[in-house]
Amino acid sequence: MDKIKIIGGKPLNGEIEISGAKNAVLPLMTASLLTDQPLILHRVPNLRDVASLNEVLAELGTVFDYNAENKTLHLHVPTITECVAPYDLVCKMRASILVLGPLLARHGEAKVSLPGGCAIGTRPVDLHINGLQQLGAEIKLVDGYIEAKAPHGLKGANIHFPKVSVGATENIMMAATLAKGDTTLVNVAREPEIIDLGKCLIEMGAEIEGLGTDKITIHGKTFLRGTEHTVIADRIEAGTFLIAGAMTDGNLTLKNSNIMYLDSLIEPLYKAGVEVTGNKSSITVKRINKRLRGVDVMTEPYPGFPTDLQAQMMSMLTIAEGAGMVTETIFENRFMHVPELSRMGADITVHGSSALVRGVDKLKGAEVMASDLRASVSLVLAGLVAEGETIVHRIYHLERGYENIVEKLSSVGAKLELLKEKAA
Ligand code: UD1
Repeated sequence: MDKIKIIGGKPLNGEIEISGAKNAVLPLMTASLLTDQPLILHRVPNLRDVASLNEVLAELGTVFDYNAENKTLHLHVPTITECVAPYDLVCKMRASILVLGPLLARHGEAKVSLPGGCAIGTRPVDLHINGLQQLGAEIKLVDGYIEAKAPHGLKGANIHFPKVSVGATENIMMAATLAKGDTTLVNVAREPEIIDLGKCLIEMGAEIEGLGTDKITIHGKTFLRGTEHTVIADRIEAGTFLIAGAMTDGNLTLKNSNIMYLDSLIEPLYKAGVEVTGNKSSITVKRINKRLRGVDVMTEPYPGFPTDLQAQMMSMLTIAEGAGMVTETIFENRFMHVPELSRMGADITVHGSSALVRGVDKLKGAEVMASDLRASVSLVLAGLVAEGETIVHRIYHLERGYENIVEKLSSVGAKLELLKEKAA
């Protein structure tokens, strides 16, 4: 399996271009199932998750063409030829569950494998299923598949989510665009990626109010049309590089990224002694203090601190002066980077959903194992500041969500290389 070798100790200086957001492009791709006209997406990152979802969509009748050079993805589903999303494709990526709502809304029938167990917790899909049932779908769980039917179409409803869920909000919002009548969704997620999806659906002819608030109203339509849409910048990739800049005591500018979506990271960074400035198209990071200081963070739904930046923040706290408490409230079992960071000399004590990180003077390079996407990148960040050589194994996780990360980090002074496993 491929790995990354990092020689720590180089400050990151210069400019990095931020890619389109993984968590925006995946739901946008599934929105193509809602119309028989082409959907053209621009600024689509060349990621393994995008390729995996294209495979799922192709299974359902989507003709797709991805131009990796200009980052444009053409998706066209003239007819839905198959309504089964099989286990072997869905298990590669949980976001495949997002085909359920659109398939059911346009085709009246869908059979989607339950996403398998996931490294960062049990991650159920009950909110997706309950929401679709409230729109009138008949749903059965048979042999590990969600079998859903709405032979007479979906009907608008008032749905109150008992828990905030990004995916369930997206799935039900997409389904409701083709339901008969009005749907009100209460206690929805407010992530910028959901607003981006909503904007694209509106460009496709959907009528949606309240995007970005905790209550969304959708007036159902009989059909949607195709459109062209540019994916928003990846705030998690940007946040990851801001933390990398702070950790390495560099001076880094992120192009094509929007500072507006990163308030919840900028505040703790400021308390830690890091200055972040910028606007809607560029962000710059540099340290104010010689040494970083420990701070507390707690993950929460947007606009709170993102769970997808928790591991990277913990990595930063390992080298800060004093202690910081990291509390994870979104996913259980999302501290798998802790034992790996400890192998590099970090001092971390976990109590339930909180981790107390006592800063050390230096991390030491070691061989470590990536366990999930964000945990992997936290180990790369640790490697950038560790003394000596760090090898991060199982980096296929990284390729799911970080476009050209080795090239991007190398271009600003990091010393790292991808080691391809030789064929046996
Ligand atoms: C999305 C993001 C992921 C991010 C997460 C939280 C994508 C493709 N992925 O994942 O990167 O970490 O939001 O910001 O956008 N839950 C239930 N029942 C459900 C659905 C969710 O109990 O039916 C729970 C989950 O187990 C979790 C919480 O709700 O504890 C939030 O999960 P959710 O927002 O749904 O995450 P995803 O959409 O899977």
